[in-house]
Parts: sequence; C-alpha cells; structure tokens
Amino acid sequence: MRRFLVAGNWKMNTDRAGGTALATAVAAADPGPKTDVLVCPPFPYLIPVGEALQGSGVRLGAQDVWYEPSGAFTGEVSVAMLRDTGCSHVVLGHSERRHILGETDETICRKVQAAIAGHLTVILCVGELLEEREAGQTEAVLNRQLAGGLEGISEQDAADLVIAYEPVWAIGTGVTASPDQAETAHAHIRNWLADRYNAAFSDRIRILYGGSVKPDNAQTLMQQSNVDGALVGGASLKADSFLAIVDAARSLAAAE
Ligand code: 13P
Repeated sequence: MRRFLVAGNWKMNTDRAGGTALATAVAAADPGPKTDVLVCPPFPYLIPVGEALQGSGVRLGAQDVWYEPSGAFTGEVSVAMLRDTGCSHVVLGHSERRHILGETDETICRKVQAAIAGHLTVILCVGELLEEREAGQTEAVLNRQLAGGLEGISEQDAADLVIAYEPVWAIGTGVTASPDQAETAHAHIRNWLADRYNAAFSDRIRILYGGSVKPDNAQTLMQQSNVDGALVGGASLKADSFLAIVDAARSLAAAE
C-alpha cells in the first residue's frame, strides 16, 4: 500500500521567525505511522526550519534546484547545497516556474536527473492550463510533461519519484478540481507510468494532488484511489489548516 504524503509548498512566503514558528507547530503533529509530512520553505529559511523540525519525522524540501554541481551560476543553488541544509526532497517543474519563470520540460528534466543523482527525492509537478482543459488537451499536456520531465530516467532512477498533479486553474484560485477530475487525471498519470515503466512500478509511485487543497476538501480528494496525498500551497502557511489536512490523511490511512 502506498503511504500518504502531505507536503506544504510555502512558495515565496513567511519570514525567518514566522517560518520557524510554523515549522515548530508542524513538527509537533502526529501523522500516524502511514503518512509522511514534508515542508518546503524558501531557500533562506531551509536551515532554521530544518533545525525546528529536528527530532520530528517531518521532512525538509526545497522548491527548486539548479542542475550543475557548482560554478558561475549566479543566483542558483545546487543539489549538494540542498543536501547540506538537510533537504531530502525537491519540488521540480512547478507551474509557477513553468509559466512565470519560463521553465521548459528540457530544463526540468536536467534538474530531475541532477536531483536523483544527488539522492534527493523529486516531486515532479505536472498540470494543464484552463484553456488546455477546455480544449480537451489535458491528457496530451500531462503526457508531454511526463515524457519531457522523465526523459532518460530509468525505473531504478525513478524508484523514489513522486508526481504532483496540479491543474494550473486550481492553484491559488480557490477552485479545486472535483474528486472525479482529480481521480481521472491521476489514473491517467498512473497508466502513463505503467506504459512507460511497468505496472508494479506505477503502482508504487505516489501521485499527489495540488490546487486549493483545504481542510474541508482534503479528505474527499485523498479518498480517491489514485490520490496519495496533497501538495498544499496557501493552506500550508497556517499550522492549523495544514495540520487538519495531515489529520485527514492520517484518518484515511488508519481506515485502510
Ligand atoms: P494552493 O494550495 O495555494 O492552491 O497552491 C497549490 C500549489 O501550487 C502547491 O504547490
């Protein structure tokens, strides 16, 4: 059985004191034995947040990474630097990086390769724009982003891979995908993984849903058989709402 993963993507929010306090509150949570919890603060707060998480089971992740190991890449951060701060995970291909910062599948794939080589667990984000959904292109977009982001990645490389389905029209809008829409997209992603790799591999991979996940919709979304957790933006910035989502996963896992 796949374990749930509830991940908080803090994006460009919090400050040192607020982020540390939030991490301290999250560290006190009891997610139960079958749910993993992760927080992804901005780069400058990785170290204090990691310190606040120490002794808890909550993992630390970054929101991006650069693919070269070191050198003249002003403003960028390497895989080794993230490992050095205590990160175990990295979010790659987030829609804000694709659509605001102009990242391509090719760049994302180089980051995926570097992160895996450096033993970071990759959360690869995919998802369609509203106009793509309305034009009936959702599956084609997912296929393209999966194929592009995982080009050259073997089954062995991808052993710890996590996919996050984040429909762009649901991010930060308060409009969540319905449980059916999420399940349909997740099932499509799982089938794609089975075709590209194999069914046993695909069955092990966790697929998170992201896009306006809140305490009041988390449970019905995560109840879907192919939804293995949540990548939470806005609701991860307050301990009580994030912990309510963790609790929804914990009770679903306990009921299985
Ligand atoms: P919101 O939960 O704020 O919609 O953000 C989702 C997201 O982009 C997580 O990565």
